[in-house]
Amino acid sequence: MTLRTSPEVGGMGHAVKRKEDPRFIRGQGTYVDDIELPGMLYLDIVRSPYAHATIKHIDASKALAMPGVLDVITGATLAQYNLHWMPTLMSDMQMVLPVEKVMYQAQEVAAVLATDRYTAADGVTAVDVAYEPLPVVVDPFKAFEPGAPVLRTDKPGKTDNRIFHWEVGDRAATDRAFRDAEVTVKEDIYIPRIHVSSIETCGCVAQFDRVSGQLTVWMTTQAPHAIRTVFALVAGHVGLAEHKIRIISPDIGGGFGGKVPVYPGYVIAVAAAVLTGKPVKWIEDRMENLQADSFARDYHITAELAAKRDGTLTALRIKTLADHGYTDAAANPSKFPAGLFHICTGSYDFRAAHVEVDGVYTNKPPGGIAYRCSFRVTEAVHTIERIVDIMAHELQIDPAEFRKKNFIQPERFPYTSVLGWEYDSGNYGGALDLAMHKIGYAELRREQAAKRQQGELMGIGISSFTEIVGAGPSKHFDILGIKMFDSCEIRIHPTGKVMARFGTKSQGQGHETTYAQILAEELGIPVADIQVEEGDTDTAPYGLGTYASRSTPTAGAAAAIASRKIRDKARKIAAHLLEASEEDLEWEPGKFYVKGSPERAKTIQEITFAAYTNHPQGMEAGLEAVSYYDPPNLTFPFGSYICVVDIDKGTGEVKIRRFVAIDDCGNIINPMIVEGQVHGGLTMGLAPALFEEISYDAQGNIQQGSFIDYLLPTAMETPSWETDKTCTPSPHHPLGAKGIGESATVGAPAAIANAVVDALWHLGVRHIDIPITPEKVWQCLRANGVTA
Ligand code: CDP
Repeated sequence: MTLRTSPEVGGMGHAVKRKEDPRFIRGQGTYVDDIELPGMLYLDIVRSPYAHATIKHIDASKALAMPGVLDVITGATLAQYNLHWMPTLMSDMQMVLPVEKVMYQAQEVAAVLATDRYTAADGVTAVDVAYEPLPVVVDPFKAFEPGAPVLRTDKPGKTDNRIFHWEVGDRAATDRAFRDAEVTVKEDIYIPRIHVSSIETCGCVAQFDRVSGQLTVWMTTQAPHAIRTVFALVAGHVGLAEHKIRIISPDIGGGFGGKVPVYPGYVIAVAAAVLTGKPVKWIEDRMENLQADSFARDYHITAELAAKRDGTLTALRIKTLADHGYTDAAANPSKFPAGLFHICTGSYDFRAAHVEVDGVYTNKPPGGIAYRCSFRVTEAVHTIERIVDIMAHELQIDPAEFRKKNFIQPERFPYTSVLGWEYDSGNYGGALDLAMHKIGYAELRREQAAKRQQGELMGIGISSFTEIVGAGPSKHFDILGIKMFDSCEIRIHPTGKVMARFGTKSQGQGHETTYAQILAEELGIPVADIQVEEGDTDTAPYGLGTYASRSTPTAGAAAAIASRKIRDKARKIAAHLLEASEEDLEWEPGKFYVKGSPERAKTIQEITFAAYTNHPQGMEAGLEAVSYYDPPNLTFPFGSYICVVDIDKGTGEVKIRRFVAIDDCGNIINPMIVEGQVHGGLTMGLAPALFEEISYDAQGNIQQGSFIDYLLPTAMETPSWETDKTCTPSPHHPLGAKGIGESATVGAPAAIANAVVDALWHLGVRHIDIPITPEKVWQCLRANGVTA
């Protein structure tokens, strides 16, 4: 038996938490960590150094003897209340705290409750845990082999490590198309595990009022209402009913999908608050966040493409192994265990396609979250854009021409793909033409040919991606059975000032600005008179939250619909005030006037005042409306990105010389915010393309446990993005808008990878998995006989 205590885990270094640590200097914001309440207790977490081990015993005596340490909460503590397990958003089960064994490195093992955060951190170092290591399964392919140790022994009757098998498309037609194909290509593409690394880590403050039975939790969540429902479902048996739970999501320092799941720390803090009757704060440190919170991607893909020799694509076949770690902690709509991965036919017109995905358990932290991506769309886009590029090179057709030949043409929309999506609108050729024009494509190709003659390595990569964002519609989309729609509630006070509340939650996307703009335009009320609020379940209407670029397609639409309901009532009041019939009134933003007599008018402010002081007999007073908007379809933003790289033959370093990004998100509400979304998204696309990856050794030890090894791009590594747009409005969205939050993160990696392979293709290089590190390129160059 190996005895080892927790503190030295993967360099998590609780011991470095000291009062003088600059990480603890307070900012001026209103983030969770800014909240201090009288009598507050602090929680810190003991984490496992092992990826798979039996817990022999937990000795908390030394910690409990420390002044200021009040309690050490273990799985046994929570088991008394049946709170040691919780469901994931994919209806899998996850330990809150273990009673028997740990399943991944950095898993929560126990929690120390103390009077200040430094004592809590010191208490963590004083808890002795004895572990007996178990065989570790890291490789998902090995986990999938018959005879592999079964990891989820908690699941009665489970005899393997498979989580799900999911497939879509016509297998027979696809196989036939491949048999008949004139040309086929096949590539194994790995999209590595990465982490969102938002500036603010996760945390919460939980407060329980023993007299009223009211629980208030300020927490870093992108989906406050859904979390409230989950808390009520999980803790209803101990008396936490949904109307007694208030979740407040204050300012959030970036979410990107990582703040959708419920992490054990939240649940332990709530349990501690309920048990002690005191407010309890839990804030992760940076390394805990990186090592233990839900990860993204980790898709092992085999993609095949069939085409005619003239370059017409005929079929796509994809098999994927999805490594979900210890539990399926994705936040996918429940009908789609592999998310919206089957948007993988992309911008191209296929006659046949078939996709299979198998989810598998391993001894790694749980996940499968949609990191700045609409449920696996990044994986889909990377796959199709890489394999299309490989086919173009194989056929020696220019990749731009090849794409144009196979694009779904504008007149084909609405277009139903062979995998079942109805694309609402698109003009892929328009976006690619603009990108080619802006970057000077033809001239660059000439330069590339000349450089190649001189032995220099220059590449041009294209990514012409299609996104799919804005879940619902509710008939197809739910999370844990909760239908996916979103909401806006508008109240106009007598003096014409507006309070508008939404079921979504901004994490820096600027909803306060763009929602106010929608309302101002629809109601004719100045933006300065409009207050937008989100994130408080006691006040906001129920909604599913913000992720997967769904806010504009859903809540943005709800804002327009609710405004139009208000305008309908305002018209009736105006008719009453003007002694005219409703049909004779014209609306222009800010007032109703009588057709042909513009001087006979009532402003929206006059109408609003009358709604409370002089409304028609028989009409209810007030001017309020709510919309729970269930979109008829998703929206399908798209774009064309072109990247130019130069590669250093001596070091393998990839230098991005230029990057042109053309995005189309339909009608734009705020161009400046959209520009910001694209810039940030492009940098978050650059990151996995060249730098970021989380990997594990054979014992399940994380290899990139801090930002020393997990390389985030800084301003130094980020090129100057050149952006522009086309506009193809969504035909079904009330404002013609599509989402934009994620397009750039989704589209950028393939453009960069395609540029690198384009630079090296003539040397025999067909594919390099991201992140394309200098070492990988250098190895490729050496393997193909290139020296500096
Ligand atoms: O759900 P999330 O807010 O992350 O994504 P989004 O709906 O794509 O919106 C991101 C930001 O861009 C929001 O402030 C939107 O209102 C804004 N936006 C816009 O101004 N015009 C669009 N067509 C789409 C988004």
